[in-house]
Amino acid sequence: MEVRAARDEAELRAALRLRHAAFVDEQGVDPAQEWDGRDDEATHLVAIDGAGTVVGTCRLLAGGTVAKLGRLAVTVPARRQGLGTALLRAGEAWAREAGCARIVLHAQTYARALYAAAGYEAVGETFMEAEIEHVRMERDLA
Ligand SMILES: CC(C)(COP(=O)(O)OP(=O)(O)OC[C@H]1O[C@@H](n2cnc3c(N)ncnc32)[C@H](O)[C@@H]1OP(=O)(O)O)[C@@H](O)C(=O)NCCC(=O)NCCS
Repeated sequence: MEVRAARDEAELRAALRLRHAAFVDEQGVDPAQEWDGRDDEATHLVAIDGAGTVVGTCRLLAGGTVAKLGRLAVTVPARRQGLGTALLRAGEAWAREAGCARIVLHAQTYARALYAAAGYEAVGETFMEAEIEHVRMERDLA
């Protein structure tokens, strides 16, 4: 398994298809919210299995010293094997390289254990986003 930035259009398209399957098809997110116009400015990470298939993805947006990680998704058969966590770690490495001191994300509350186990702390009240309950979580990169 390899986790790194998407390196061509085919990998990027595969990552976007995976997001569509996970968020729009599986979770019922409105496509207008999923495709929010920020993908062109983002860095897209991919997890690639031994057969060369993209089985995980997330995107990163850097704003000054804070990086925002989002759109973390893993294909159904590849879940619960540590890939989500590996993508988080790769996102943190990318953010450090980009000079960020902190990484933030909006976690779906059902998945907060994933982020808590990786050292993220919940900040503030839960809120609704794309009609799904979320909580902001943050981690210091120092
Ligand atoms: C959330 C998601 C990315 C997790 O990916 P993953 O590769 O399965 O994550 P990991 O294997 O690294 O999981 C690590 C830990 O996170 C927690 N976790 C992962 N999936 C979970 C779930 N569905 N429910 C509760 N806890 C979960 C567990 O503590 C897990 O450890 P364990 O397997 O030893 O119990 C994946 O389920 C997914 O793509 N879901 C659909 C899209 C989505 O909800 N994205 C997240 C938006 S915040």
